[in-house]
Amino acid sequence: MEPLGVIGAGWVGLVTAACFADLGHEVVVRDVVPERVADLEDGRVPIYEPGLAELLAANRERIRYTLDMADVFERARMAFICVDTPPTHSGDADLSRVWRVVEELPDVGERIVLIMKSTVPVGTGALVRERLDRAGLAHIGYVSNPEFLAEGSGLEDFRSPDRVVVGAFTDEDGDAVAALYGFTEAPILRSDVASAEMVKMASNAFLATRISFINEIANVCEVTGADVEAVARGVGLDHRLGPHFLRAGIGYGGSCFPKDTSALKQLAANSGYHFQLLTAVIEVNELQKRRVVGKLVKHLGSLRGKTVALLGLAFKPNTNDMREAPSLVLASRLMAEGASVRGWDPVALEEARAMLPSVEVTESLHDAIKGADAAVIVTEWKELQALLSPEARGLMRKPLLVDGRNLLDPAEARAAGFVYESIGRAAHDLDALPETEEPETQLRQ
Ligand code: UGA
Repeated sequence: MEPLGVIGAGWVGLVTAACFADLGHEVVVRDVVPERVADLEDGRVPIYEPGLAELLAANRERIRYTLDMADVFERARMAFICVDTPPTHSGDADLSRVWRVVEELPDVGERIVLIMKSTVPVGTGALVRERLDRAGLAHIGYVSNPEFLAEGSGLEDFRSPDRVVVGAFTDEDGDAVAALYGFTEAPILRSDVASAEMVKMASNAFLATRISFINEIANVCEVTGADVEAVARGVGLDHRLGPHFLRAGIGYGGSCFPKDTSALKQLAANSGYHFQLLTAVIEVNELQKRRVVGKLVKHLGSLRGKTVALLGLAFKPNTNDMREAPSLVLASRLMAEGASVRGWDPVALEEARAMLPSVEVTESLHDAIKGADAAVIVTEWKELQALLSPEARGLMRKPLLVDGRNLLDPAEARAAGFVYESIGRAAHDLDALPETEEPETQLRQ
């Protein structure tokens, strides 16, 4: 089997390396951070992704980690570029890590093919091609092969993709990359490089659009008495629309949607086109994170001096990734309103402490809600079902629960004694906090 290189030992790189090694390929993974390479060599995986550490361990004899680019091409003639492309201050993608890869390529005197997995603006492939050609490296091929893996289900998404996209400058390079995906029955879309790049950007923008759309429908449901959960089910049954990405909540986060929507908006603007719809999608998402504050104020009045527990800090369940997590914006907004903020997450505690230094990050759910005036479900970890008990309710100073992900059943939450608010689901007559401060506050400690 073809030996492969993977450049960048982040989430995409490690999932790619583990899965191709598991298929029998020899893989050399290169990263520029010495501690990361040392950790990986010692079997420590710096990323939480279900099954990833186990898969890397199971295929250890086929995977080599290195700091040296020359090692990547010692045997491999094809290498996946999996470096990050974070947004710059202008919203453009920062391609400096991609350029570094191009600059560091060793001359192996043979044809090698670079396979771009990182999400890059449309036109990046053409720029790389131009640079390679100018540097006398016309024999180095370039293929766009965007990844569609979602955090938390990365291994499964790799093994059973909906489609594989291969955009190449030459048929020969496209064939070589397509052949690596012989393990799947999924359709392989062959295209030019720019179109492959755009498939990725358009897919993420469309998914983000669905989320902002259902969030706005949810907001209208709240003022009209409809229930967004029933509405989403009804809409999703139309085969032209489908049921996915219609979960209303407090907005999307993560390392992809916020970055990729802003990069596409910026890309269009740089060429003189105002992408109105995408601009609205981004704005709706920003406002959606802040709407929780209004729900808290509705019940608590001023938040000055109140204690609010944020439950679930990672941007979604089954990951410790805090990048662009709605919890970050919410925590800052609440503190700006004068509230004390506590936070808890089943896995992202260390990350949360680093990113939210003013938030008291607790070791347990119990400690987060004890004596709090309100609790907010920010991420739908299944562990938060434990809130559905009179005991949990009894720990709180006031029994206000704002479910930002519609995780809980409203009837069960109310039966457990909570004043319960969620997103796009009708409020209930009983949803009013008792007038007086409750003495049971200090009960069960
Ligand atoms: C996303 C895409 O789903 C992947 O296909 C893509 O490869 C990846 O970005 C990427 O570009 O690398 P990811 O960011 O890991 O994957 O997570 P998603 O599961 O898509 O969730 C993104 C955000 O949307 C989360 O904050 C989630 O809570 C939110 N979301 C998702 C909703 O609010 N409602 C939904 O119905 C679905």
